[in-house]
Amino acid sequence: MSDATRRVIVGVTGGIAAYKVPALVRLLRKNGCEVKTVLTNAAKPLVGAEPLRVLSGNPVYSDDKSAHYDMDHIRLSEWADLLLICPATANTIAKMAGGIADNLLTTLTLSIHESKIIVVPAMNCVMWANNATQSNVGTLASRGVTVLPVGEGELACGVRGPGRMAGTEEIVKRVMDRFNASENPANAALKGKNVLISSGPTEEPIDPVRVITNRSSGKMGAALAKAALSMGARVTVVSGPASEPPPSGANVIRVRTAAEMAAEMGGRFAEADICVMAAAVSDYRPVVSSNIKIHRSEKENITLELAPNPDILAALGAVKTSKQFLIGFSLESGDGVDRADEKMRKKGCDMMVFNTADTALGGNDIAMTLLLTDGGREAFPSMDKTAAAGVILGKAAERIGKGIQKSV
Ligand code: CTP
Repeated sequence: MSDATRRVIVGVTGGIAAYKVPALVRLLRKNGCEVKTVLTNAAKPLVGAEPLRVLSGNPVYSDDKSAHYDMDHIRLSEWADLLLICPATANTIAKMAGGIADNLLTTLTLSIHESKIIVVPAMNCVMWANNATQSNVGTLASRGVTVLPVGEGELACGVRGPGRMAGTEEIVKRVMDRFNASENPANAALKGKNVLISSGPTEEPIDPVRVITNRSSGKMGAALAKAALSMGARVTVVSGPASEPPPSGANVIRVRTAAEMAAEMGGRFAEADICVMAAAVSDYRPVVSSNIKIHRSEKENITLELAPNPDILAALGAVKTSKQFLIGFSLESGDGVDRADEKMRKKGCDMMVFNTADTALGGNDIAMTLLLTDGGREAFPSMDKTAAAGVILGKAAERIGKGIQKSV
């Protein structure tokens, strides 16, 4: 992608933060982007069309004229490399989640691939926390739309809390990171490749109502799936009972136990070019799982005898070919980078993502160190899991591009 094709449509909805859009347009252009703007009717009183026209160097699109009949939404979607909805109100987010197309901007969101959309929410903190908004944001994210986190602080309505629009510079950085990632020739190494990802926790039944499990949310697996899809890969996710849904573009296989996950991963591994064991597999399962609920009244103390589960990653590492790239995650409770390195070699992986339980499990962010079999170690500061997924797969793509796989 050349600079000339860094074409951004900024879709402006009726949030008070719309007054920041002219500065955003200016900064995007300074960074080499071509910009067009689309205003909803609610945005019009909040930001002047004339400054946007002058700063973008393009006409401002809105519902003024018979835009739908002129096929503006189709022409704009063909033109754009990225649709940045900024600020995005709860109303527009809800319409997008529901597939409603009642104005030029929402019609445009249906005409453009979800992976090309970045949503920058801005609203009152109670509206942001509302279950409907959170569920709508989750729906968009699961379809591959990037939703930027909101900031916290004093809001236009006078209260304090999460709901502020991300800073203009931060937004432009995310846009440029996106362009740079898709322009990175190393990332092309994933195009058309089969990526197999395990995600979430596993559950080992004690009886029909009780299980042994862990706090894994599946966020890292979902972020990896999204990143792989946006790099043009074909993605299969074998997911335990995770709270975070994998993106809709992935082929999703649901499992509960480690044994089920081992069977699904083992059966699909031969087809995979890249495999990531991001799942937090329960290490043990009850030797006996009761078919009926164990009643408390029957026994005072009970002892659970546990048997080790199969090590899925080690089993995959044992049959891996030199054409495959295998990535493991090593979660340690403290400073265990050398243990992680040892695990990488013992389990036959090409790369190990070392992270600590306090920074990663269940959260939105991860601080990680990437370990490679040639001794390479790279530590990264805490970042959100979407960004981390891009870094991990970018590193894998770079290795595959160079044909470096030394662990076999
Ligand atoms: N893993 C696996 N099967 C298991 C346990 C772990 O495939 N039964 C995978 C995980 O998905 C992860 C890697 O192995 O990619 C390392 O997991 P981790 O829990 O850090 O290590 P363990 O092998 O469980 O070792 P230990 O508990 O001794 O740290």
